[in-house]
Amino acid sequence: MSETLEYQFVKEIIPLDIERNSILNIVTRDVNTHTHGFHKYPAKFIPHIPKWAIEKYLNGYKGRTILDPFCGSGTTLVEGILAGHNVIGVDIDPLSAMISKVKTTRVDKVELKKISNWLIKEIKTKKKGTFKPDCETIEHWFTKGAIKKLSTIRTLINQIPKKFGENKKTKNIQDLLLICFSSIIRRISNADNESQKTYVSHTKVKKPQEVNTLFFSQLNLFIDRAIKFSTITNPKLKNKIICSSSSQPLNKKLNGQEIDLAITSPPYIKAIDYIYNQMVELFWIGDLFQMQTQEKQNKKKIEYIGNKQLSIVEFKHYTPYNTILDIDKLDEKLQRVFDTDKKNGHKHSYVTFKYFVEMDKHFAEMSKCLSGNTHYIMIVGDSSVSGIYFDTADFLIDIATRNGFRITNKWGYKIKNRFMRFDRKGRGGIIEIDWVLDFVKE
Ligand SMILES: C[S@@+](CC[C@H](N)C(=O)[O-])C[C@H]1O[C@@H](n2cnc3c(N)ncnc32)[C@H](O)[C@@H]1O
Repeated sequence: MSETLEYQFVKEIIPLDIERNSILNIVTRDVNTHTHGFHKYPAKFIPHIPKWAIEKYLNGYKGRTILDPFCGSGTTLVEGILAGHNVIGVDIDPLSAMISKVKTTRVDKVELKKISNWLIKEIKTKKKGTFKPDCETIEHWFTKGAIKKLSTIRTLINQIPKKFGENKKTKNIQDLLLICFSSIIRRISNADNESQKTYVSHTKVKKPQEVNTLFFSQLNLFIDRAIKFSTITNPKLKNKIICSSSSQPLNKKLNGQEIDLAITSPPYIKAIDYIYNQMVELFWIGDLFQMQTQEKQNKKKIEYIGNKQLSIVEFKHYTPYNTILDIDKLDEKLQRVFDTDKKNGHKHSYVTFKYFVEMDKHFAEMSKCLSGNTHYIMIVGDSSVSGIYFDTADFLIDIATRNGFRITNKWGYKIKNRFMRFDRKGRGGIIEIDWVLDFVKE
């Protein structure tokens, strides 16, 4: 697909007006400025996208409210605060909610330095930690030395409220340190750093980085960036992060809050297992959200849109002939998957069907939350399921339209170097372009 595409090169700044169906090749220097670089996250989008949407639709305004209903690691939210707006993020994933909170929360500089200095000093005393991951196979994932050091750091971070006071200021700093701690775990582990799934490769043996050295250098970066973020942003702005599903009633959760702009990138069909991706991190901080064991992690997966871990019972009676989505082209494709993939067609067509059902519910919810003329920018890629190409973006346009949205523009950009994006050669499929769908609520 990509070989025949013609790209329009743009450097750093995306033009406000883009011709329909054009495809940009966005040349960027650094996508990890400010607090953006705090934590890896699969399928993160580049800050340039929300920045573009904010400049296009909130130019000249301050103190408006931006919503990202699938906020992931908070790229939209960081850009929103930097541009002088209040932000609301929603995500089903508790770790991403915490990353988003930390990346958009201002911290007290003096307190941050005081607590960090104490933490560094205590780590250097090499006291044995009492924290133990609830995982029988932990020595498969980490060396004994790494387990000992990680346990010391986590134990010390747990002591912060007792030592420095149980208040919001201290809690914000404790959360920042937990995310800093989490951000080094994959590199410390025996698991491959880059792959979307967490696994220990026996062919490509990894030499994990040393825990304390990496933690101290990451802590320096966090302190510098958090202080800078707190200095340049308006203290009156609010960041609200809601850990919940965006296909369930959203209205109540937003509490009638007026939304001025929504920007998001929802999950892709069958593409990413967010929990599997974060497994080693969850061994060390998952207890904060009851996701510390693999069993608990697997239970939680059911709530994620696009999730492919389903029990047979759920789709036993499904056929795309008697249960339809009422979008002819989409229903036909689901029938083709069902009929032609003899091995997995039944399951794959159900997973895809369910994805669109959930997105239908999502648009219905968003329709209740947004007032007329409010723009909703959605970034999504197409997929291939059982070798059949699904024009996800176009099907989402159909679904949004029947839920009270009008598409005002569609353009694309080439996906590059995004951490843990997709395995293009794998079954995840042909996702080289992200489509930017610009909806307006009728
Ligand atoms: C493509 S990622 C968003 C990445 C984000 N734009 C960023 O830059 O970090 C999609 C997100 O949707 C979340 N998600 C999946 N199912 C959800 C649901 N039912 N409700 C809300 N969020 C969900 C996932 O946890 C994931 O964080």
